[in-house]
This record gives sequence, structure tokens and C-alpha cells, in this order.
Amino acid sequence: MKIITAIAEMRSLSVSHRMQGKKLGFVPTMGFLHEGHLSLMRCARQENDIVVASIFVNPTQFGPKEDLDRYPRDAEGDQAKCVASGVDVLFMPQVSEMYPEKPVVFVAVEGVSEVLEGALRPGHFRGVSTVVAKLFNIIQPHRAYFGQKDFQQCVVIKRMVAGLNLDVEVVVLPTVREQDGLAMSSRNSYLGKDERRVAATIWRALSEGDRLFRTGQRDAAALQGAVRSILLQEPGISVDYVEIVDPDGLRPQAVIENRTLILVAVRVGRTRLIDNLQFL
Ligand code: PAJ
Repeated sequence: MKIITAIAEMRSLSVSHRMQGKKLGFVPTMGFLHEGHLSLMRCARQENDIVVASIFVNPTQFGPKEDLDRYPRDAEGDQAKCVASGVDVLFMPQVSEMYPEKPVVFVAVEGVSEVLEGALRPGHFRGVSTVVAKLFNIIQPHRAYFGQKDFQQCVVIKRMVAGLNLDVEVVVLPTVREQDGLAMSSRNSYLGKDERRVAATIWRALSEGDRLFRTGQRDAAALQGAVRSILLQEPGISVDYVEIVDPDGLRPQAVIENRTLILVAVRVGRTRLIDNLQFL
């Protein structure tokens, strides 16, 4: 596996692969890799000639009071996991090269960036869409892989790709979970033992929502109430939102249909966790 830090070197490698007719698959990450990330890499491996992964803890998507400074890192462990998952090129740019000065150019995806996570984390999705646009321009992938775990992020990226006519196919893959259902996340490493146990409530609540859907419940308010009350019964959890929305525009829905989603954000201690489930 080749490790590249310089933007110019990454760009010229991608250009030469493209000229040889190779298909490039790209997996953007912020590192501290887990099975969720690796599932994206393995899928990219199957579908492309060259797999590029990136590790970049992107400062512009963190709010001033968020966890940028303590975001977990493990460069060596991550590199071994990338090798084992079939990554050909690992791109790890420096913050100083990605943002040589205070950024003044941004990609903004209006609407879907402003609700849910966007309402509680102002500027977050502007940082995400901007860095992903920069990475797409540097790496020039044919396909890029994202996890459903961050469903709103997937919607924002798809909108960006459509709106800017970017020539990238966005592939969204299912959420990988721990044994007890907790969605894998680099931020799970913040959880103490008790908090980790409490965090499993999120999946229990979503699963109850799914059970209600399967037994015929289509009333969004009723189902939302049931999920919320399971979360609220756990004193270690505070709920940021439980919303039932359509998958394309993330607009609140009164009636649950096929493909409607339930999105959840909670705090367990100082740690913010998100998860979602699509009714199918
Ligand atoms: P990060 O949180 O490192 O996630 C990188 C990719 O892995 C995202 O597409 C995310 O949805 C996916 N992922 C995370 N946990 C997952 C899980 N349990 N199952 C499946 N996929 C999972 O998301 C980001 O980084 C950043 O915002 C980024 C897109 C890299 C831009 O900075």
C-alpha cells in the first residue's frame, strides 16, 4: 500500500491510473478505523481496479465546542487495517496543505444541510461538503463509498454531486453494528463502561420502532413516541431528536411509507451518538 501525504502526488497518481483506464474507488474517513469503515473499503475493493482511502480529521466540520482536539487517532493501526482491507493508496494530507489559510471558499448544500444534525451543529455539513468536494477534486474517483450510519451526510453528498454535476457515483452501504446493535463509530471509544451499556438502548429503541412498523403501525407520531419513550426511560441518555423523515428531502412525515426513515441523536455523558433505521 502506498501512503501519500502531498496533494500534487495524489493527483498525479490518480490521473495516471485514469489514463490507463482504471476505475478508482474512494473511501473518505477521519480514521480510528473500525469494521464500518472497513466494510466500505472491502466493497470498493470488489468494484474497482484501484482503491484509495483517505484519513483526514477535517477541522472545518467541527464546531468550536466540539471534539476536534480529542478526536481519536491511531495512524499505525489504521494503516494495517487499510492494508488488510485491500486499499492500494492511503491519502493522509496535512491540515496545512488542505487549508493553507482560513478558508473562504465553501460548498453549501442548502435545505438538507440545515435540518436535524445541521440544526444542532451549524456549519457542520458545510465543512463536510467542502472537504469531500476537495477530496473528489484531488482523487478524481469514479465511485465514492459512504455509510448509511451517517444518513444525512449521504443525502448532502448526493445533492452536492448532483448540484455540481460531479462525475462520481455515490455508493451507500449498510450500517455495521456491534453485537448488541450499537452502530460502530470512532466516537464509541469515548464511552466509559457504563455509558457503553447505556448506548445500546439506541438500537433497542430503533428495533422497537421496526417491530411496530412490521406489525402495521404507519402513524409517525405514535411510532416516534414509542421510540422516544424507550430512550427517555434510560436516565443516562438525553435525547437531541427522534425524527421520522423521507429519505430524499429529510422532511418530517406524518405517515410512514416504504423507505421512510427514523433518525435519532442522543447524548450519553459528553458523547453525542447518532443512528437511524429505514423502514423497508
Ligand atoms: P468518519 O466518521 O470517519 O466516517 C467515514 C465513513 O464511514 C462515512 O461514510 C461513515 O458513514 C462511514 N461509517 C461510519 N460508521 C459506520 C458504520 N458503523 N457502518 C458503516 N459505515 C460507517 O464521515 C466522516 O468520517 C467524515 O464526515 C468524512 C465523510 C470523511 C468527511 O470528513
